[in-house]
Amino acid sequence: MESNVARNRAELSGKATNVLDFRTLASSHKRLAELLTEGMTVLDVGCGAGAITHGIAKIVGPTGRVVGIDSNPALIEKAKKTFGDIPGLEFECGDIFNLHFKEEFDIVTSARVLQWLSNPLEALTVLKSSTKPGGRVLILDYNHEKISWEPVPPSSMKSFYSAFLKWRSDAGMDNAIADHLPNLFEKVGINEIIITPQHETVKRTDNDFNSRISIWADVAASRGIQMVKDRYITESQRATAEMEYREWINEVAMSQTMYLLAVEGRKNNL
Ligand SMILES: C[S@@+](CC[C@H](N)C(=O)[O-])C[C@H]1O[C@@H](n2cnc3c(N)ncnc32)[C@H](O)[C@@H]1O
Repeated sequence: MESNVARNRAELSGKATNVLDFRTLASSHKRLAELLTEGMTVLDVGCGAGAITHGIAKIVGPTGRVVGIDSNPALIEKAKKTFGDIPGLEFECGDIFNLHFKEEFDIVTSARVLQWLSNPLEALTVLKSSTKPGGRVLILDYNHEKISWEPVPPSSMKSFYSAFLKWRSDAGMDNAIADHLPNLFEKVGINEIIITPQHETVKRTDNDFNSRISIWADVAASRGIQMVKDRYITESQRATAEMEYREWINEVAMSQTMYLLAVEGRKNNL
């Protein structure tokens, strides 16, 4: 059973949702983009406001079917408003642990979602049930313990980041889930496992440097508030981390790499 603490801490709001809108299929789910062909059926669980999902629908076209599911009603509302007219694309509010699909999709994907669950094994079992025999399950996720910055960020942010990882792991979330996915796949009987590194590096010379490296300032401004309420940090520690990190971005930051893997496998034909 998924814990209520994890459910509460996984909930996205305010500035935390900004980062989702910058993502596209081509930039942020590259392995999926390689696998898609016209006419495919694809389920995208934890689709947010559909930034990646609508790109999937454009490739599979009107002869295919794409369903985006998210547990956050505000994000699904926004997805329907923004992308509701694309043929073959549907959005539904729903829970990864309670999907109603039975062997319907060629590809079932969930990107950056299992990191927020205390019971990813159960979620993977449900994702497998939604996949056609012979179809693929494709999970994209982080190992937050392997992030790197150049040069090192201010100590206030390093302390904030450590507290963030503890706040997550105390809720039962796996900070290193990317590296544990192959083992989870084996446990639920998904075979032919392929691992593709998809690490996200942003450099000072990139056009979107500021918005992407600001992710940790945005996390401090959003989830940080909840961490203060949960007594993992004080408000002053939170505010200092956010401010000093923004100054570091403006003055000295050169690059950041978030460790991300795409792990896929096949469901056996019956
Ligand atoms: C970090 S966002 C990733 C969004 C998108 N897949 C991407 O890669 O940009 C995680 C998403 O998972 C959703 N989510 C969290 N727990 C969920 C659950 N139990 N069932 C369905 N969606 C969930 C959140 O609402 C959020 O939109």
